[in-house]
Amino acid sequence: MAETFQRRAHYKECCIYQIYPASFCDGNGDGMGDIPGIISKLDYLKDLGCDVIWLSPIYQSPFVDNGYDVSDYTAIDPRFGTLDDVDALIAGLHERGIKLVMDLIINHTSNEHYWFKESRKSKDNPYRDFYWWRPPKWSESGERLPPNNWREEFSNGSAWQWDEHTGEYYLHLYAKEQPDLNWENPKLRQVIYEDVMKWWLDRGVDGFRMDVINLISKNPELPDASIQDEGETWQWSYEHTANGPRIHEFLKEMNKEVLSLYPDIITVGETPFTHHDFDTLVPYVLPENNELQMIFQFEQTEVDGYPPLVVKKYTLPEFKQVTSRWQTGMQERGGWNANYLENHDVARSVSRFGDDSTPENRVLTAKLLALLQCTLSGTLYVYQGEEIAMANIPPSWSIEEYKDVASQAYYHEEYEIRKKDGQTPDMSDVMHALQCKSRDCARTPMQWSDSTQAGFSTGIPWMRVNDDYREWNVEAQKDDPKSVLSFWKDMIKFRKRYLSSTYGLFEEIHPDHPHIYSYTKTYDRETMLVIINFANESVDFDFGNVKIPAGKPKDQISNLESGSAASVDNKVSMRPYEARAMVWDGQ
Ligand code: GLC
Repeated sequence: MAETFQRRAHYKECCIYQIYPASFCDGNGDGMGDIPGIISKLDYLKDLGCDVIWLSPIYQSPFVDNGYDVSDYTAIDPRFGTLDDVDALIAGLHERGIKLVMDLIINHTSNEHYWFKESRKSKDNPYRDFYWWRPPKWSESGERLPPNNWREEFSNGSAWQWDEHTGEYYLHLYAKEQPDLNWENPKLRQVIYEDVMKWWLDRGVDGFRMDVINLISKNPELPDASIQDEGETWQWSYEHTANGPRIHEFLKEMNKEVLSLYPDIITVGETPFTHHDFDTLVPYVLPENNELQMIFQFEQTEVDGYPPLVVKKYTLPEFKQVTSRWQTGMQERGGWNANYLENHDVARSVSRFGDDSTPENRVLTAKLLALLQCTLSGTLYVYQGEEIAMANIPPSWSIEEYKDVASQAYYHEEYEIRKKDGQTPDMSDVMHALQCKSRDCARTPMQWSDSTQAGFSTGIPWMRVNDDYREWNVEAQKDDPKSVLSFWKDMIKFRKRYLSSTYGLFEEIHPDHPHIYSYTKTYDRETMLVIINFANESVDFDFGNVKIPAGKPKDQISNLESGSAASVDNKVSMRPYEARAMVWDGQ
């Protein structure tokens, strides 16, 4: 299978940069990032070394879930611009040899989508079966109840919303304004293929990031979920809604009817709610299955707690174990990884997996994480702001600064539970969780410069700019060879120069070591050795019986200023937070 794994392809070698449009760059001063703003930064993206942009949703949307609630798939939300702007964006990217991947949200729509508005009109409306409608259940005492005990993702409530007009409930695994589409209906599938996917591909986009794609097939019996939380009425439904019975059939059909007709596109699926289950996820990406090129697994990002707002201490061996399992798993099976530490749904990596307690440590550990990501097999994803070490929201911010529907619901539900006898409850642990783990941490505006609003907008930004923008911004880093931004550029070049980073067979050294993550990557005649010290202390690392390439490496890169490459002895002394990658030929 190593042969399949190492078969070269553009989608494997590219660097994909994710833009969260509301917070990237505001071109018209209304406080909201937009497409003209993105266009003004294309040279920046090219210079960074990106080959592909993944754009979070810009479709028309009431914005209950910041665009992940689409009310028209072929219209652009006026807050972001127009279709002409998108055409100009595509042209500007293609001129620079950069591809555009659109977010595709097809597990659910907004409740303001035309299909849903039609669907709720009557039980025999032609769009009724585009969604999951069910009659109520009745308790013995005659109380009306939802069809089953599933809970929604963003709050503790039921995943079913009562609709008085036709006297039925509809299913929404996310907010009640995000009704789930019924993929059992072949008409719905055809409309998505023809009127949504092909419409965009024919317009010139180069692929899709498919939102929660593993939820599109549900157990059609809609049985009650097993009780995981005693005492809770509503329970997580994922045993019946994630990786459902027809998921691979649907994706194979989508591939045959759409994806395979556009040979150079990029496809990546988001596959949450599948824990410690490599074997369930790998079929999505095996080339012989003709489904997707890669998926975003959630095991890595959940190592410090799940559900997302749980803050859990983790050990380095736990973190390494997940990374290494996916590295070796894919090379054994011939599948492909999508490597990310950040996106719009998770807090900032330097705050979570690095150390942002001092400016020096923040620089060092942001570089350390860059070196890690750029030396792993799989496609590299960088999220806006990660390249300048943007950090989490400061602890001093109050709940009003948090804009995300999930953060707000979490806070207010907890508040209501704790509010007793009119006493103001202590919410400090909730605020701590939000500050460490909320999605808002990734959504503060991009920090371009030290001028007003970090150069993001000339107006009042929709979300507050992080207090640290005067020190941490693109302008301050772009001409400084020692900056995090310069290191990312160097790392991306290094990764492209030495293909063992992308395709090398991964072998871990001393997996149980509490501080060091070390591995070799071999591809063709090239060997790469990576040693990363995650501890804020010096560590002597002994390779023991592991054979290390002899002689001087032909190249090396490090997050500390280091002299020219020296040969590696059986023992290396690693300075606090030091990370190094070395390359040899013909070993
Ligand atoms: C995905 C998106 C997230 C959104 C959810 C519902 O997880 O990344 O932002 O809230 O799907 O669409």
